[in-house]
Amino acid sequence: MIDFQKVIEHIRTEVTVIEDKGTVATYIPELAKVPIDKFGMALVDQYGKTHITGDGEERFSIQSISKVLSLAMAFAIKGEELWQRVDVEPSGDPFNDLSLLENENGIPRNPLINAGAIVICDVLMTELDNPREEILQYIREIANDPTINYNLDVARSEKATGFRNYAAANLIKSFGNLHNTVGEVLDLYFDLCAIEMSCRQLSHAFYPLMNLGKCLRGNQYLTIPQVKRMNAIMLTCGFYDEAGEFAFEIGLPGKSGVGGGIVALLPNEFCVATWSPGLNEKGNSRLGMIALEKLTTNTGLSIF
Ligand code: DON
Repeated sequence: MIDFQKVIEHIRTEVTVIEDKGTVATYIPELAKVPIDKFGMALVDQYGKTHITGDGEERFSIQSISKVLSLAMAFAIKGEELWQRVDVEPSGDPFNDLSLLENENGIPRNPLINAGAIVICDVLMTELDNPREEILQYIREIANDPTINYNLDVARSEKATGFRNYAAANLIKSFGNLHNTVGEVLDLYFDLCAIEMSCRQLSHAFYPLMNLGKCLRGNQYLTIPQVKRMNAIMLTCGFYDEAGEFAFEIGLPGKSGVGGGIVALLPNEFCVATWSPGLNEKGNSRLGMIALEKLTTNTGLSIF
């Protein structure tokens, strides 16, 4: 049996000495304040045992990782009908690209780029009475942690500077694929990006995606075919124009955020989260990717 605690401790000692830690995101001013030398990792195995190293208990801004959780909720509510509003093809473009929207009639390429996640927020706004509260409650329940919350300073900071997201939402609205107002939908989108979670909490929140739809407490959140689809989308679209590189180096479905977090999983084996705020030029955590490459290479565990 693999001693995951030993494996992740060893990875931490190897990656934290790397000098080039990437660059902390500054386009959301509040994120620029995060110290570059943070590194955390948490892995929950198939038996529900959690292994933590470094800053694995410290909360950070999950940013785009929230796109998977809102998608899971919308998919559970709407079922296959959801794919009329958003496609499931990798974009091969940066997360905030606008050109595809114009050429593809306001149907975002996939739900994990910004445009796609904005449409998912719109779907949830229509379906839920109190979307902001109900989505947070859903995430708290899946992760089995009532303390998970929004960081309103981060949400405000992005709202003041999120011009590209306003452009995307307006473009989608012009094609008729946004049913609520641009302002309302983006308020929800910025709030979801501003949720703070630790590596431990993230690994638990993604546990159903590695455990046939069931969370650590045994509650079913998605059907088995839905889990297949969620993982396929993460594998092909979770890292924007670096999705191929992530599959090539790491070989797991996963999702990154510009707060420096990455979550990845091997179905029926483990779910892992890393946090290192320095990003590479594609906007994915530089040390997080190196750590995950070591994890799958050193243990021989990947979907391939
Ligand atoms: O909308 C944005 O630009 C951010 N709130 C989220 C972007 C993000 O995390 C992309 N991930 N790598």
